[in-house]
Amino acid sequence: MGKGIVLADPRGFCAGVDRAIQTVETILKAAKNGGDAHPKGLPPVYVRRQIVHNRHVVGDLAAQGAVFVEELDEIPDEAVAAGIPIVFSAHGVSPAVQHEAARRGMHVVDATCPLVSKVHREVLRYVKDGYEIVYIGHRGHDEAVGVVGESPEHVHLIEHADDVSALDFPPESKLVYLSQTTLSIDETRSVIEALKQRFPWIIEPPSSDICYATQNRQTAVKSVAEKSDCVVVVGSANSSNSVRLMEVAEQALAGRGRAWRVDDASELDPAWFEHASSVGVTSGASVPEALVSGVVDALKAMGYEDVSYVTTTKEKMHFVLPAELRRVR
Ligand code: F3S
Repeated sequence: MGKGIVLADPRGFCAGVDRAIQTVETILKAAKNGGDAHPKGLPPVYVRRQIVHNRHVVGDLAAQGAVFVEELDEIPDEAVAAGIPIVFSAHGVSPAVQHEAARRGMHVVDATCPLVSKVHREVLRYVKDGYEIVYIGHRGHDEAVGVVGESPEHVHLIEHADDVSALDFPPESKLVYLSQTTLSIDETRSVIEALKQRFPWIIEPPSSDICYATQNRQTAVKSVAEKSDCVVVVGSANSSNSVRLMEVAEQALAGRGRAWRVDDASELDPAWFEHASSVGVTSGASVPEALVSGVVDALKAMGYEDVSYVTTTKEKMHFVLPAELRRVR
């Protein structure tokens, strides 16, 4: 048998990323169609933080005129007064950011993924019912910052099973755990076990907070890794779900080979594949398919000509655009 590529299915864009990118694109298109009506000297749209964690996606939207800012105070009053839309990224924001936007009278279009918003609502509901919340997530990640910001005094962020020993709650306390949407299912399981051991009365959320796209991509890459000698994950370094895919793949390879993460084909190193007859390929939820095609073409040029697929499920999830944009398209 010749050298080959094993492609994971599902991979790439999830429904939340698709919606967030379409949100910005729809606003860009409306501004373009508005022609002379658009205020002179002002951009068509501002986006707070990376709309999704992929530098190619951000670069493409920036090239079309979107202006990315880290914080709202970078947006001039003149743009706010002119009603230029300000998009919140798919990862969500804390109430402090929402309040600041409201205080300045900003025209906000919220592209937070509905599955992230679900976790925000869970925090509010449990806090209202008197619970302390242990939130399993990555410190400093935009999504975690937004969720913890809902109630910093009642949401206790932990990252690993080792962090559980630092928590302390009285036995009569109401306790629940929630999690970031893009964690490793296996790693989270060990954190939950440690939590249940130390706080046997802790309750779980009504359904897993790890989203369908994260779960499906991890299941697919595991199957791919089992059939491959190494795995390439296409995705940016700050993409939580892409980094998790790399970790899951490496674990499933079980020492037979490595998993590598690349932003695009230009980062592939032929030395990685010296002893591999089959290379698994997948991509994170924020990665355009064109980048995967680029990697596949580069591998074909290295002699990996047979392409096969491992399909673990077919996704049908779709989220509608934010209400105010549905008429604009
Ligand atoms: Fe949403 Fe999951 Fe994608 S939380 S943005 S569907 S990775």
